[in-house]
Amino acid sequence: MMSKVEKISAIRGMNDILPADAAAWEHLEKTLHGLTRAYGYESIRTPIVESTALFKRGIGEVTDIVEKEMYSFEDRLNGEPLTLRPEGTAAVVRATIEHNLIYDGPKRLWYTGPMFRHERPQRGRYRQFYQFGIEALGFAGPDIDAEIILMGQRLWDELGLQGVRLEINSLGQADERAAHRAALLAYFEKNSGQLDEDSQRRLATNPLRILDSKNPAMQNLIEAAPRLLDFLGSESLRHFETVQALLKANNVHCKINPRLVRGLDYYNLTVFEWITDSLGAQGTIAGGGRYDPLIERMGGKPAPACGWAMGIERVIELMKASNSIPESEAVCDIYVCHQGADTLSSALIAAENLRSAGIDVVMHASPEGTPSSFKSQMKKADASGAAFALIIGPDELAQESAQLKDLRGGGGQRMIPLNDLLSTVIDALVASSSD
Ligand code: HAM
Repeated sequence: MMSKVEKISAIRGMNDILPADAAAWEHLEKTLHGLTRAYGYESIRTPIVESTALFKRGIGEVTDIVEKEMYSFEDRLNGEPLTLRPEGTAAVVRATIEHNLIYDGPKRLWYTGPMFRHERPQRGRYRQFYQFGIEALGFAGPDIDAEIILMGQRLWDELGLQGVRLEINSLGQADERAAHRAALLAYFEKNSGQLDEDSQRRLATNPLRILDSKNPAMQNLIEAAPRLLDFLGSESLRHFETVQALLKANNVHCKINPRLVRGLDYYNLTVFEWITDSLGAQGTIAGGGRYDPLIERMGGKPAPACGWAMGIERVIELMKASNSIPESEAVCDIYVCHQGADTLSSALIAAENLRSAGIDVVMHASPEGTPSSFKSQMKKADASGAAFALIIGPDELAQESAQLKDLRGGGGQRMIPLNDLLSTVIDALVASSSD
């Protein structure tokens, strides 16, 4: 008896994205490319693995990501501490400093790719997930905060997503946060009996993070805590008000959420999130804000910056829920059928010639590597979605010809000389696409 070989599965929380979802991903990617061009963004690709120190310093030691979610390991060859990137901003800032990208002025950059966070997997929350993100580096004004938000709104509109709302807040500047922090500390210390274990710990390290707590038992306490907005000085307030006015002038509605602090420590002034109620608990499809302190914190010459990132899986889910995914395109224009060893070579040459002219061709091949029956080849041709089958059998070959069979428009079948193949197929495809 044959012993059963154990199958190896994908790692929990890390998903295969299967062909059935290809149309949705490709439609989103195409829309994102158009969006980046429309706003003058250039592409950047950074490595998936970086020094652990980059994320510790960039995102902040006392954050959920750095404290418990990073895939960190030691390089066995040289002992270097490495981490699979949990987000893109820290690396884009590193690359900007390392390659002096903003020496001659500000830059708008975009990126996409897999990110890794060791969270408890559930719907919309994965351990490997994809982000699309933008970073506008070297711009200080509220106009850029507004522009990057408008970019998000345009994306949801272009994708036909429904029910996406915008929440916005200002985290002010370091001294304003320090004054708020002192008031918050005093408040939570006074009420320390009501803090859960996690929050007790954060009281000593980062009391602002207590406001992030999802523990229902603490919501009343959090609701009544001192608000950062009440500690903002006139400049920060003016920045925040200008962003809001610019959004309003562009008919983008936002709700001010004074409790919105975001889960990463690099932000100042404007922060925002795009949220939907259609995806269950993981309803934040994108988030970001201004992070003026980060470039200097990472060793660069001080320069302001802001950006956002979205979770691609969550947006795809919402595209499905909003019925906004276009039908998947046929995999090919022409399906080539052939019968008998002598025809194989002519069929391959014909297929290559068609491809050279930009026509998408699937060449029939049987799973066994031996010729399939004509009937089963035609079944495959039909299922491929191709507009035409090109059939080369011994009879056709004897006449240096092929049969072109219309698979969609009921246009029948005709013999065409192989030396006229290209022009005849192109004419037929043009005629069938204008039907
Ligand atoms: P973030 O809020 O941590 O921000 O992540 C951005 C988006 O990535 C989230 O809104 C969510 O849609 C998606 N996301 C996060 N974690 C997961 C997960 N485990 N599974 C699926 N999707 C997830 C950042 O990463 C910042 N770098 C954004 C930014 C750019 N700020 C300024 N520039």
